[in-house]
Amino acid sequence: MTDETLNLDTLYILDHYIQKHYAHEDALLRNILTRSEAAGLRNIHLSPTQAKMLQMLVKIHGSKRILEVGSLGGYSGTWLARALPENGQLVTLEMDPLAAQVARETFQEAGLESRVQLIEGDAIQTMKGLLKQEPFDFVFIDAHKPHYPEFYEFAMRLVRPGSVIVLDNVVQHGKVLDNSLKESQYRKIRELNAFIGMDPRVEAIMVPTFTQKGLDGFLVVRVK
Ligand SMILES: C[S@@+](CC[C@H](N)C(=O)[O-])C[C@H]1O[C@@H](n2cnc3c(N)ncnc32)[C@H](O)[C@@H]1O
Repeated sequence: MTDETLNLDTLYILDHYIQKHYAHEDALLRNILTRSEAAGLRNIHLSPTQAKMLQMLVKIHGSKRILEVGSLGGYSGTWLARALPENGQLVTLEMDPLAAQVARETFQEAGLESRVQLIEGDAIQTMKGLLKQEPFDFVFIDAHKPHYPEFYEFAMRLVRPGSVIVLDNVVQHGKVLDNSLKESQYRKIRELNAFIGMDPRVEAIMVPTFTQKGLDGFLVVRVK
């Protein structure tokens, strides 16, 4: 594999290589995906390599309180909660009752119920209820893309200086790079990417991700 032979297949092979060596999925994680599929949930969870990257960020940062917007069946939530210390907490928000049910079963099966609070409902509403709680050290945003600007602004009210916010799907298979695409999921993300790059409250970097699901990216934000 060299620069000269670089193409999409090479990038998928690289993702498998990274997974094989660094992002091992145990039986419990694989079972989350089996149960999610059987329940009819969409296959839109993180890849193991993306989830491991998040897990590493949480551990390196030493986060104790994590907020996740978009639980689905609890796949990324399990990687995140496993990165927490014994007294840590993950609060995860999900509006789809079916997904919330699968995620609850996931956290129970993983023995993580004491560390995970799942709040069912529209995150635009449920985030308001979190204002009374202690600030979060780490926020992972992975829900409805046209609402990312609202999720981001609300997350900014729920964090402290030094907190980390990660937004998934900020490249959208490269479609955010094409200014002629006006659909709201591309336009809103494109505008938010530009906004965060200039936001004086934070410093940030975009990290491209190449997985089995194609080209995308994380926006990694540190609150000043
Ligand atoms: C991409 S999936 C999350 C995947 C999950 N983070 C993982 O990797 O395992 C997005 C989830 O966000 C949920 N969602 C979308 N908009 C939401 C909102 N406004 N409030 C709460 N959940 C929302 C969807 O129902 C869906 O389950």
